[in-house]
Amino acid sequence: MFTPNPYGLFSMPTLETPRLILRRIAMSDAKDIFAYSADEEVARHVLWSAQKSLSEAKDYCKYMMRRYRSDEPASWGIVEKASGHLVGTIGFMDYSEDNASVEVGYSLARWLWNGGYMTEALARVIDYTFDAMDINRIEAQHELTNPASGRVMEKCGMRREGLLRQRLYNKGKYVDVALYAILRSDPRPGHALLERESHDSTHRL
Ligand SMILES: CC(C)(COP(=O)(O)OP(=O)(O)OC[C@H]1O[C@@H](n2cnc3c(N)ncnc32)[C@H](O)[C@@H]1OP(=O)(O)O)[C@@H](O)C(=O)NCCC(=O)NCCS
Repeated sequence: MFTPNPYGLFSMPTLETPRLILRRIAMSDAKDIFAYSADEEVARHVLWSAQKSLSEAKDYCKYMMRRYRSDEPASWGIVEKASGHLVGTIGFMDYSEDNASVEVGYSLARWLWNGGYMTEALARVIDYTFDAMDINRIEAQHELTNPASGRVMEKCGMRREGLLRQRLYNKGKYVDVALYAILRSDPRPGHALLERESHDSTHRL
């Protein structure tokens, strides 16, 4: 059921999953963000370049904090409960008010890849978006050369809708992307996974 959010559409409240906290990014996160965003492998299939210095991470924090203040599409920081470190981001890249749709995007520290973490985070964001925001459609896209990201989308119930040829110009070349989406009326397999995980912390999403 839709619950109007009195603090603005992109108020980005703290969300929790069995292994993660999703919360607003603060200046004090810059060191953690730099630790994984300096990795060329993490940046390979996203539209930002690997960070070269801590000041770039600080600039990112400032940019995100400005977006929170102005209620623009923004990202949560992903905090790993076990370590207390911020290990990634997930959030809204785009918003269409007319069509009640958002686009989501995410990235995670390489040392946590393939542990089911992003599936857990995306499942939570999908639940929040449909349960607390007046959104009907959530989209995401990934470069064809980044199939792990498509798998995350699939596991969360997003359906592949098409191949967009040379949709993006990224790091010196045009790249093909796959477009995925989930509708408010679609099943949400990620939700069941989240519930199961909370009863069995060893279950891998
Ligand atoms: C893409 C990314 C977010 C995935 O996060 P993650 O926490 O590792 O994802 P999960 O562990 O939840 O799921 C990954 C799935 O992809 C699968 N996978 C990994 N590499 C794969 C490959 N080369 N081909 C196909 N599937 C692959 C995994 O086996 C797993 O599926 P499974 O559970 O069915 O086995 C992470 O690798 C990342 O941050 N990459 C850099 C940034 C980025 O590319 N962001 C997305 C931009 S669209």
